[in-house]
Amino acid sequence: MPMPATAEHAPVGGEVGGYPVFDPQLCHRFGHLQLQRSDRRLFALGRHAITALCRSVRPRRVWLPRFMCHSVKQAFENEGVVLMPYALNERLLPQQTDPDEQDVVLLFNYFGLQAHRSDFLAQVDAWRGLHLLVDNTHSFGLDNQFPGVFSCVSPRKFLPVTDGGIAYDPAGWLSKAHMPSATDASWQRMGWLFRAWEDGGRGPSYADYAQARDQLRQTPYSGMSPATAFWLDLIDVQTWLALRQGHYQTLAAQVPCHPLFSDFRHGSDFSPIGYPVHVPHAGQAQAALARHKVFAVRYWPELETSPALNAMEKELLQHLLFIPLSAPLSPPQVEALRTAVSGTV
Ligand SMILES: Cc1ncc(COP(=O)(O)O)c(C=O)c1O
Repeated sequence: MPMPATAEHAPVGGEVGGYPVFDPQLCHRFGHLQLQRSDRRLFALGRHAITALCRSVRPRRVWLPRFMCHSVKQAFENEGVVLMPYALNERLLPQQTDPDEQDVVLLFNYFGLQAHRSDFLAQVDAWRGLHLLVDNTHSFGLDNQFPGVFSCVSPRKFLPVTDGGIAYDPAGWLSKAHMPSATDASWQRMGWLFRAWEDGGRGPSYADYAQARDQLRQTPYSGMSPATAFWLDLIDVQTWLALRQGHYQTLAAQVPCHPLFSDFRHGSDFSPIGYPVHVPHAGQAQAALARHKVFAVRYWPELETSPALNAMEKELLQHLLFIPLSAPLSPPQVEALRTAVSGTV
């Protein structure tokens, strides 16, 4: 009679119809992100952490920067929360707010470059008694970058996964009753990751990537898929972060950083979203760099038609560009970047 499988004697390898299938037990799991810890909540996307917060805390209003990603504003509006957009001062902090205890206040760690600034941390402290959310989706690290504070990150912006959102909820604000009942099905959009790998960066995978990215907008409120959680466990996040930080430092030695961020320091366990540069015209510089296969990022060009923006916010729109940190630039790419920064494109 066959022995029943126990935890110690679980069979390694499985099969379907006689074919061996993928078995997670055969993979080395780094587990750097400690996804099972009780202060983490796992979602299909970063924006779902906002949905969960709204459903658990039931705020009347949210104070948030008007210079902000549309998906964040939408997440609050979908839950019937009134937006109270604030302007930014020259330190990327709120110019004027008047929150009360029924409100959520959102601080954005702009581009992952604010976390060590004393005035940013002072604002975090000033709002600790309220329902404070630090949107940390432009930074990524091994833990909550803002201990004791509700925060969220978006792994797909940093690691080779197609989706995922992690909320750090140290005070236990998210109630179990409002957590998503369904989990995401990442496998439906994971194909492009493998295609990109097999393409060797030659380009046909871009269409798959764009399709997968567009699908995210339709992703309903749901938990992180087992496939994404597994994949995140599999990645050596520590080494990945060290590589990104190395690329940041190399760029800093080659091309001047945007002056707004000259006093930026990063902790060894975190990476910002990119390396910031000042260019005379962000749209033109972005296009010029793309011709050299440097895919620089602008935030958020769709705000260009917004009449409300102040001089600081317009500066961010028109002159700030982020160079990705996922790979080092070649010497001709560095030259193209120098040209873009000096304005001779
Ligand atoms: C500032 C900011 N916060 C939150 C999000 C939401 O992250 P996700 O796309 O994982 O929902 C995004 C991006 O899309 C963002 O840019």
